[in-house]
Amino acid sequence: MRLVSFALLAALSGSTLAAPDLQKLSAEGAALIPPFQQHLLDTVKSALQDGGPAQAVAACQSLAPQIAAQHSAAPWQVGRTALKVRNPDNVPDAWERRVLEQFAARIAAGEPVAEVRHAEVVDGEFRLMKAIPTGEPCLACHGSAIKPELAAVIDQRYPADQARGFALGELRGAFSLRRPLDAQ
Ligand code: HEC
Repeated sequence: MRLVSFALLAALSGSTLAAPDLQKLSAEGAALIPPFQQHLLDTVKSALQDGGPAQAVAACQSLAPQIAAQHSAAPWQVGRTALKVRNPDNVPDAWERRVLEQFAARIAAGEPVAEVRHAEVVDGEFRLMKAIPTGEPCLACHGSAIKPELAAVIDQRYPADQARGFALGELRGAFSLRRPLDAQ
């Protein structure tokens, strides 16, 4: 069955919120993503310019979690996840894994990666995920031809790294946002 974007598959019967409120929450969450994404991109770009790839990997490692925290405006929590992760802290939970697998199936069926997202009420939380395509600047660190000196830095900092071998345009992972339903 094809999933409609923002399909609210939750058993809404158990929720006290009406559908329009969920649409509002979707819009509110979706608005947090572009500044988060831009901040990450600006950080990796300036680190690449300032100190080259090794420096940029170090910057990603120390700054990515801080940037996520900074863009988590209460009651929202924002982060990133993927089926294949670099940082073990980003491993998907069971719900995120299921959504990522659905994203992969939707993309295989022809949906453009940049448009794929899903929102759902899960255990009293509103949760939202949006697919992240592999862009050109990502290939240096997540592609299949990572420069040996850079690969060495990644190996050293992330001995269990799975986040390489991606092709341009391929699903890299997803933004994942959550907030309690009853928060004001
Ligand atoms: C300079 C190397 C570098 C570049 C360029 C880079 N990344 Fe990453 N990426 C990393 C590192 C290091 C991590 C782990 C940091 C973390 O989240 O704690 C990471 C983590 C991620 C994650 C979180 C899931 C995971 O694997 O831990 C996603 C999603 C991601 N990158 C997507 C992208 C996208 C999309 C681009 C291009 C716009 C990109 N990256 C460019 C190095 C890079």
